[in-house]
Amino acid sequence: MGVERTQVAIIGAGPAGLLLGRLLSRAGIDAVILEARSREYVEARIRAGVLEQGTVDVLHAAGVADRLDREGLRHGGIYLSFDGARHHIPMEELTGGRSVTVYGQTEVVKDLIAARLAEEKPLRFDAPVARIEDFDGDGPARLHYRHDEAEHELHADVIAGCDGFHGVSRETVAAQVRIWERTYPFAWLGILVDGAPATDELIYARHPAGFSLYSMRSPTVSRLYLQVAPDESMENWSEDRIWSELHARQDGDGFTVNEGPITEASVTPMRSFVAAPMRHGNLFLAGDAAHIVPPTGAKGLNLAAADVTVLAQALAARFREGDDGPLETYSDRCLARVWRAQHFSWWMTTMLHRDPAEDAYGAELALSQLRYVVSSRAQATALAENYVGLPLERTVAAEVARG
Ligand code: FAD
Ligand code: PHB
Repeated sequence: MGVERTQVAIIGAGPAGLLLGRLLSRAGIDAVILEARSREYVEARIRAGVLEQGTVDVLHAAGVADRLDREGLRHGGIYLSFDGARHHIPMEELTGGRSVTVYGQTEVVKDLIAARLAEEKPLRFDAPVARIEDFDGDGPARLHYRHDEAEHELHADVIAGCDGFHGVSRETVAAQVRIWERTYPFAWLGILVDGAPATDELIYARHPAGFSLYSMRSPTVSRLYLQVAPDESMENWSEDRIWSELHARQDGDGFTVNEGPITEASVTPMRSFVAAPMRHGNLFLAGDAAHIVPPTGAKGLNLAAADVTVLAQALAARFREGDDGPLETYSDRCLARVWRAQHFSWWMTTMLHRDPAEDAYGAELALSQLRYVVSSRAQATALAENYVGLPLERTVAAEVARG
């Protein structure tokens, strides 16, 4: 097979790669998306569920928000539960009308795949990229991948490494990146439940037995999480044990968890991670390929969307106006947002989880911080504006939409 040529080679069809592909096609820039796994696998992978206002705005600007508008659940607040009581944080009121939307990552991914296929733009599943070469020179970068039981080569002006935490992109520049990292002494056991949530908004709960979160996917599907040991095996968790832990950690103050059939269950480790810079010549890292946050702040997917929004705008400046300025500031612009989200996610995580090695003093500090958040408008506002997201993407989304 001959060598294929494109403007932007996108590695990975997670939210970052798919959204970038969509924003580029709207800007008239050619791209080929290569994904290691099958379409079925990518569409079924249960992950995040909360979209910031800025992410929703970008999906609108990209023309892929019809179903999101119909099915997404707009939430103007969250609950914090501790000391046996629930406290409401009215985020919308505290942030001048900003909110979040509950809509599963799986649904975002399905909508983006459907839009790409409808446009008949290249998106290849079961196409793992093995090697990236010549991304640091003046000529085109080269990618080697396997597809339909044959080896292929793709030449591109730019490579977007949207291949997640275990991808090939960051590994390729491992000697040139600096890493900042923290692992946590716990993990999340998440369940998907066929049954209506017992709450109108998400409940983040700190309890002596550990953290739990009551979330949802729709009016008839609930999503709940429990803090467990980092090396926990699902085999140790019968359905009875899961429900009894959830009742112990969430019930009270006139509230009780609503049980239902569990349709999916898995354990996710918790990690904070940043690799910088996010640009290496013509190779740009975006999303989980460059950074990971623990899910307590609901930021992972939103950061991925913010990165590619900045990248799409910068690539439009290069390919349409010959202006490389925005690409030169790509890494710094993204990292400013990334570090804010890193701090917020770490702060929420340490405030709400029980560290098994923590002494009684540490537990009292966390409780004191929670009491401060629910009693001080300034503290509650700080939580709210971070949770709904800083407004950068809104500006960028408007620019992308104008084209
Ligand atoms: P990904 O979604 O990881 O997509 C990367 C894609 O690249 C994958 O499809 C992968 O198959 C593909 N790929 C990898 N290597 C190659 C290769 N060599 N060639 C071609 N393709 C390749 N965030 C939250 O906010 N809340 C949550 O509850 C939450 N739960 C999570 C649970 C898990 C198990 C994980 C891993 C993450 C979770 N996250 C959560 C984080 C959130 O889902 C991610 O931040 C988000 O998926 C990042 O999108 P991405 O496109 O950057 O990466
Ligand atoms: C989810 O619904 O999966 C979810 C919600 C909020 C979080 C993390 C995960 O902070």
